[in-house]
Amino acid sequence: SEENQESKAQNDAPVNIIMIGMAGSGKTTLMQRINAYLHERKTPPYVLNLDPAVTKLPFQANIDIRDTVDYKQVMKEYGLGPNGGILTSLNLFTTKLDQVMQIVDKRAGENKYFLYDTPGQIEIFTWSASGAIITNTLASTYPTVVVYVVDTPRTASPATFMSNMMYACSILYKTQLPFLVAFNKTDVVSHDFAVSWMTDFEAFQQALRGQEDEGFMNSLMNSMSLVLDEFYNHLRVVGVSAMTGQGLDEFFVKIDEAVKEYYEEY
Ligand code: GTP
Repeated sequence: SEENQESKAQNDAPVNIIMIGMAGSGKTTLMQRINAYLHERKTPPYVLNLDPAVTKLPFQANIDIRDTVDYKQVMKEYGLGPNGGILTSLNLFTTKLDQVMQIVDKRAGENKYFLYDTPGQIEIFTWSASGAIITNTLASTYPTVVVYVVDTPRTASPATFMSNMMYACSILYKTQLPFLVAFNKTDVVSHDFAVSWMTDFEAFQQALRGQEDEGFMNSLMNSMSLVLDEFYNHLRVVGVSAMTGQGLDEFFVKIDEAVKEYYEEY
């Protein structure tokens, strides 16, 4: 029963979910859908928006980077372009991260899921010092899962699929955190092709051979796919639709699996 208590404690413990995805992958729409889904189940999440440049958020964020930094103002003040403005805003926000974490800590009894939306310019979060500081700080408090959102219809060619997975792979190795790839927009295109390419090496090779631009690109991809094969073996994936809500039950099953893994490894 000691074990029971332990697993109960784990079930109630807060979970950080960091949403990462290329611009247009549907990250924000998915956040909104997840938010609504958790509200319906009477487990409202605590939502933090880390995208200073988002103009319209379709949901109410509990903590919003835009409340503390005005990225347009930052651009003017420091003479920066849009990307520099976003990065500098994230840096300014990160200097106050300890205050944010204190608030989060107070909410940890009431909320189970803490959702973090990140800048649409994905590399600003994934390859910056601030992004790393935020990620590491979160991971040092509660189990933290990185969700990588993929625009499924726009990744249906072998070449874009592979680039997208290479990117996912690099984020996984950089963060070293439990990881879930969410193939979004499955109301438009099912993610079956992706699962098949990830589990059946031959199927991907076959898709490559069907491509018109043979030669260098294909031989590059041939060697890359050998590397990715190892990555796929440990990868957790789910198909979702931010539009219809399909796949969200499974999404949370996979999140819980990832959290279990976190407890085993950390
Ligand atoms: P950034 O704000 O640039 O980071 O984009 P984002 O990744 O947050 O994407 P956003 O949520 O703005 O969605 C991009 C477009 O995809 C919008 O037109 C959405 O309506 C559409 N979209 C998002 N999710 C889905 C989905 O599950 N199905 C369909 N059919 N469209 C979707």
